[in-house]
Amino acid sequence: MQFKYLSLAALAAGASAQTMNLTATLMSNANLTNLTSYVSLFPSLLTSLSTATNITILAPSNDAFAAFLNSSAGMAVGLNDTTAIEAILSYHVLNGTYPASSIMSTPAFIPTMLNNPAYSNVTGGQVVEAVAQGTSVEFYSGLLANSTVTTANVNFTGGIVHIINQVLTVPQNISYTAEQAGLSAVAGALTEANLVTALDSAMDVTVFAPNNAAFQAIGSALGNLTVAELTNILEYHVVNGTVAYSSTLKNETVTAMNGANLTITVEGGDVFVNSAKVVTPNVLVANGVVHVIDNVLNPNNTSAAPNPAASTQSVAFAGASSASINALTSGIPTPTSMIGAGPTPAGATSSMMSSSSSAAAAMPMRTAAVGAAALFAGAGIWLNN
Ligand SMILES: *[C@@H]1O[C@H](CO)[C@@H](O)[C@H](O)[C@H]1NC(C)=O
Ligand SMILES: *[C@@H]1O[C@H](CO)[C@@H](O)[C@H](O)[C@H]1NC(C)=O
Ligand SMILES: *[C@@H]1O[C@H](CO)[C@@H](O)[C@H](O)[C@H]1NC(C)=O
Ligand SMILES: *[C@@H]1O[C@H](CO)[C@@H](O)[C@H](O)[C@H]1NC(C)=O
Ligand SMILES: *[C@@H]1O[C@H](CO)[C@@H](O)[C@H](O)[C@H]1NC(C)=O
Ligand SMILES: *[C@@H]1O[C@H](CO)[C@@H](O)[C@H](O)[C@H]1NC(C)=O
Ligand SMILES: *[C@@H]1O[C@H](CO)[C@@H](O)[C@H](O)[C@H]1NC(C)=O
Ligand SMILES: *[C@@H]1O[C@H](CO)[C@@H](O)[C@H](O)[C@H]1NC(C)=O
Ligand SMILES: *[C@@H]1O[C@H](CO)[C@@H](O)[C@H](O)[C@H]1NC(C)=O
Ligand SMILES: *[C@@H]1O[C@H](CO)[C@@H](O)[C@H](O)[C@H]1NC(C)=O
Ligand SMILES: *[C@@H]1O[C@H](CO)[C@@H](O)[C@H](O)[C@H]1NC(C)=O
Ligand SMILES: *[C@@H]1O[C@H](CO)[C@@H](O)[C@H](O)[C@H]1NC(C)=O
Repeated sequence: MQFKYLSLAALAAGASAQTMNLTATLMSNANLTNLTSYVSLFPSLLTSLSTATNITILAPSNDAFAAFLNSSAGMAVGLNDTTAIEAILSYHVLNGTYPASSIMSTPAFIPTMLNNPAYSNVTGGQVVEAVAQGTSVEFYSGLLANSTVTTANVNFTGGIVHIINQVLTVPQNISYTAEQAGLSAVAGALTEANLVTALDSAMDVTVFAPNNAAFQAIGSALGNLTVAELTNILEYHVVNGTVAYSSTLKNETVTAMNGANLTITVEGGDVFVNSAKVVTPNVLVANGVVHVIDNVLNPNNTSAAPNPAASTQSVAFAGASSASINALTSGIPTPTSMIGAGPTPAGATSSMMSSSSSAAAAMPMRTAAVGAAALFAGAGIWLNN
């Protein structure tokens, strides 16, 4: 029973020559009826969006919602978990007016209205990565999931709507992201050092996360480490209090959580931290950003410098050799699916993470068995009455 939509849509269409308000804009687009329903479930959100100015709404199409509700992520959002759903919707609202023409091939990290500390510990709001790839505009979210703009620049009185083909993934905590990204050595080492809670609940962090190959390359040095030594090494990979996306990394020295210095070098499109190269930048997490690197950093070797011309760097632990890392990784669950590959850097051929298959969307609340589909179906009934 769609008469209510149809009559309102007809009214809105009649006024199409002028810029419409948000509700009229959403209702006038046949691909956005689901979003209209869901936002209407949250009267306070709807009111604040309707009265806001200078915002950009990334509006998932009906097809995007259908796919989301069928995904494990969609099903994992609890039936009654209105805060989770409100958080997801808030993440789709950018602070500022961003027409497609303002989005460049160099990624920008745009703050959203997702501020609820249960879902984001990023000062100023969790961000999305906006990047132009060829002729399309892409938004990368948690777990490097990508959403493509299918209809750009729909103006409304408070700003702009871009219709996207996939619901954004709210960035997850560091430990879960590490698991899903196949960084099981990092996940295992954090567990062994008992750092998971401290790191996941910190605010505004940047993590340089070595991939498993990096740990394997120094495997012989890992077996004899005390917990204190392992902790010191891990804390040397974290910058506490700064979220440094690729857009802000520059030649500089920064202080890691253990108090020692890290040297950042930006050279010809590549980013190095000490002698390690960033191989997958900008994996957004609930409290900041993770950059995957190809070498484990050594707090006792802070002067390790890169050789940007070389394709691989020597290890930062003198005398270490390759050995199994099963002891670190064995307790870590296998990813349910692999994360995205991230955008291809402008003018470069990327050497991204080995993962390839589709992005694993997931939500912070993964416990409820009943899907959001039930709630949203209820919304449809409620709205149509
Ligand atoms: C939006 O515009 C429609 C059509 O002009 C109007 O009926 C509605 O009251 C407006 N809504 C708000 C919140 O201003
Ligand atoms: C709805 O989405 C489809 C598929 O992306 C597209 O072909 C169509 O033009 C869209 N319709 C509107 C009104 O935007
Ligand atoms: C939703 O909340 C209602 C009322 O609090 C409760 O009766 C119902 O069991 C809850 N449903 C689920 C799936 O948690
Ligand atoms: C939007 O950004 C401006 C700064 O550019 C800030 O003052 C404002 O608080 C932000 N709004 C929200 C809702 O986060
Ligand atoms: C719109 O928001 C952006 C980002 O917060 C801000 O830089 C800009 O000044 C705002 N513009 C207006 C007209 O408020
Ligand atoms: C944000 O930090 C608070 C306080 O440390 C913590 O309780 C909360 O779980 C964190 N949020 C996320 C999404 O990790
Ligand atoms: C949308 O607004 C921008 C200015 O923000 C304007 O340049 C553009 O022409 C408008 N587009 C439409 C279709 O009205
Ligand atoms: C990060 O820094 C803040 C402020 O200095 C401090 O309160 C917090 O304990 C630090 N977090 C960790 C995990 O060290
Ligand atoms: C680890 O300890 C064993 C036994 O004490 C020793 O033989 C080995 O050389 C040590 N390995 C490293 C890398 O220090
Ligand atoms: C950073 O420093 C290196 C030398 O250490 C230099 O080659 C490079 O051009 C610098 N990068 C920038 C962006 O200035
Ligand atoms: C973008 O998302 C689609 C669908 O989830 C996936 O197949 C594709 O690999 C992703 N692309 C990148 C560059 O991550
Ligand atoms: C979502 O959109 C589909 C059409 O794609 C429609 O059949 C369904 O009723 C909509 N659901 C809601 C809750 O608006």
